[in-house]
Amino acid sequence: MELVKLSSVTKSFGAVRAVDALDLSLGQGEILGFLGTNGAGKTTTIKMLLGLIAPDAGGVAVFGADPRRASTRRRIGFMPETAHYYPFLTARELLRFYGGLCGMDAAGIASRAGELLEKVGLAEAGGRQLKTYSKGMLQRAGIAQALLHDPDLLILDEPFTGLDPLARIQFRDLLLELRAAGKTVFFSSHELSEAELICDRVAILKAGRCVYEGSVRQIAGDGGGNLERIFLDVLGRPDAARKEVRS
Ligand SMILES: Nc1ncnc2c1ncn2[C@@H]1O[C@H](COP(=O)(O)OP(=O)(O)OP(=O)(O)O)[C@@H](O)[C@H]1O
Ligand SMILES: [Mg+2]
Repeated sequence: MELVKLSSVTKSFGAVRAVDALDLSLGQGEILGFLGTNGAGKTTTIKMLLGLIAPDAGGVAVFGADPRRASTRRRIGFMPETAHYYPFLTARELLRFYGGLCGMDAAGIASRAGELLEKVGLAEAGGRQLKTYSKGMLQRAGIAQALLHDPDLLILDEPFTGLDPLARIQFRDLLLELRAAGKTVFFSSHELSEAELICDRVAILKAGRCVYEGSVRQIAGDGGGNLERIFLDVLGRPDAARKEVRS
């Protein structure tokens, strides 16, 4: 079953067409890397998947339904590109707050929060206010928040940004563990090497249009090609073009 389906989705902001006739689907248990340059339309697409903004045209279905439905949203975990958490809360209080919003009971929140803080490496810092956290620590808190209610679908906007190498490895393992448990992951990223390591499929967006979509296994076997080369090929190689002009 397709968990996520975008059919010819278009969204403009004034004269800017942020997303342009985009078709994309994601099956249960898949990890999809959503790639593209700055301003390509990744966050706009994610906002439509979450039902935060409506497309001008086309259809968005998540779990076969309108993403604005509460029953659909309950099954989604979301981590924004930039999180603005209450700075005076500790990570543990943040999880208590979000758990309450999700309708979880206090005992369930406490045990899940403990488990997740441990998983994201914040077990010791969990009692400190978020205003004292580094960028990567806030990112780790965001990951715990997105996973708190054990969602079936994770939508993550640039989750690797700001993580140190160890945290990246841990987070990569966590995503693979979630996939093994049957969860589905949709994440945007600028980290091509991470995408190549963990994704089943990647989609590359350029000016709101999908210019490449393929399975990572295909890419690996594609004449020794890799994701970075494909990315450069489909988005143009400004350096190479300049060299050609000079010679
Ligand atoms: N609320 C808005 N009002 C006006 N223009 C917007 C708005 N949101 C996005 N845009 C424009 O839509 C385009 C796509 O933006 P979007 O944030 O989706 O890109 P992105 O792929 O997430 O980029 P990045 O990698 O930098 O996060 C950009 O040209 C952006 O300026
Ligand atoms: Mg973005």
